Amino acid sequence: MPVLSSRNEKGRFEFEKNQTILEVSLENELSHLHVCGGHGRCSTCRVQVLDGLENCENRNAIEQAMSEKLDFPDDVRLACQTKLKGDVTIRRLLNGMEDIKFAKSAIEQSGPIGSNKDVAILFADIENFTPLSERMASFDVMYLLNKYFDFAGDIVMSNGGAMNNYIGDAFLAVFGLDDTGDETFRAVKAGIEIQSRLNEFSAQVEEDFDELFKVRIGIHYGEVIVGMLGCRGTERLSVIGDTVNMAARAEAANKDADTDMLITEMAYSQVEGRVEVEDFIRMKLKGTSERTTLYEIKSVIGDSLAKENTEQKIIGGIEWNRSVPVADLKEGSKLETSYQDEAVLVFRHDGELRAIQNACTHMNLPLTGGDIDDGGNITCPFHGTAYCTKTGEVTKWCEGLPDDMPAENKAMITSIKQNPIKTFLTLESDNHAWLAEP
Ligand code: FES
Repeated sequence: MPVLSSRNEKGRFEFEKNQTILEVSLENELSHLHVCGGHGRCSTCRVQVLDGLENCENRNAIEQAMSEKLDFPDDVRLACQTKLKGDVTIRRLLNGMEDIKFAKSAIEQSGPIGSNKDVAILFADIENFTPLSERMASFDVMYLLNKYFDFAGDIVMSNGGAMNNYIGDAFLAVFGLDDTGDETFRAVKAGIEIQSRLNEFSAQVEEDFDELFKVRIGIHYGEVIVGMLGCRGTERLSVIGDTVNMAARAEAANKDADTDMLITEMAYSQVEGRVEVEDFIRMKLKGTSERTTLYEIKSVIGDSLAKENTEQKIIGGIEWNRSVPVADLKEGSKLETSYQDEAVLVFRHDGELRAIQNACTHMNLPLTGGDIDDGGNITCPFHGTAYCTKTGEVTKWCEGLPDDMPAENKAMITSIKQNPIKTFLTLESDNHAWLAEP
């Protein structure tokens, strides 16, 4: 008989072909987490296959979806979905309550657990902001910053970038997360447009506040690590790595060069021949040992070669993602779809388009089979928790538990924190429903 070896127990367990890894574990009373009961929805059963990956059946659709969502490498498999056909050696990757919480959080955030990507980073900082903010009233400081971030964000997004992080008066924008290509050209174009818009904005600041408002920009192209980062419950998509530092160093170099925007050699290599160079300087960037060339760009030539993105559009500063055709949305029916890899349920209630996360916050189980009452509340078909589909608030908690369920199980199930479900902004356009983050 084939054998499953587990590094955690240093044990060997025989099994019948076509059993899943989880079935073998449970049959042998190994403590193998499987919070969703083996339905491929929680990822807590994940294992690393150390040997014998060829003896695992290919990923089925459920496992494939989870693997793409969490960016699993090939050798990380869901034990509940992976059927075995020969000897394998595995290592369980999650082992306790803390690990369960992190797995749940990663799924709820629906972002990659970590991957490498080539992107262009635009780093922008306001010159001499600290003394400026000390001279101004605090509400004027916030007013100015928000106005500036608002138009800069619009420009970044209209060029296909994402405002990724704000650090006081500085911000970091990333181009290339959408895989449409030509990320550096789009970053440079956005930088030029921001500086152009700032001419007008700075003149207004000078007139209203008698202050100079100048922004320095640095752009670099290279590899970053992309993943969800933060303490549990506050995770957000983040980019880290030396590429980010290089963009910040290029920004800082503007001070010595007396320029507004500089791009690094790596960034220039991506757009050479498609930009007009005003000037260049050779210097050692902070924290580096070699001299490098930085380019001051006057303008871009032509348009971006990025693939047209028909899946997203920006309206009123909001990024909308194309969803299901409206013709398929009949009153009373619900459509399963996704929003940036997150399972979503779209439907009409009293003619109004609504979209909610398609997973209860109780056990992460699908709401597709739930009834929606006249008030627009959907009841989870598994344990009777109900949510308002407009606000996401919990309106009932676990009111459908079987009478014969043991009291301690009831107590455990009902004690889970009553979090609301996520709801989405909806829009009808181009014969489709469009969804956005609230
Ligand atoms: S047990 Fe939940 S995904 Fe395998």
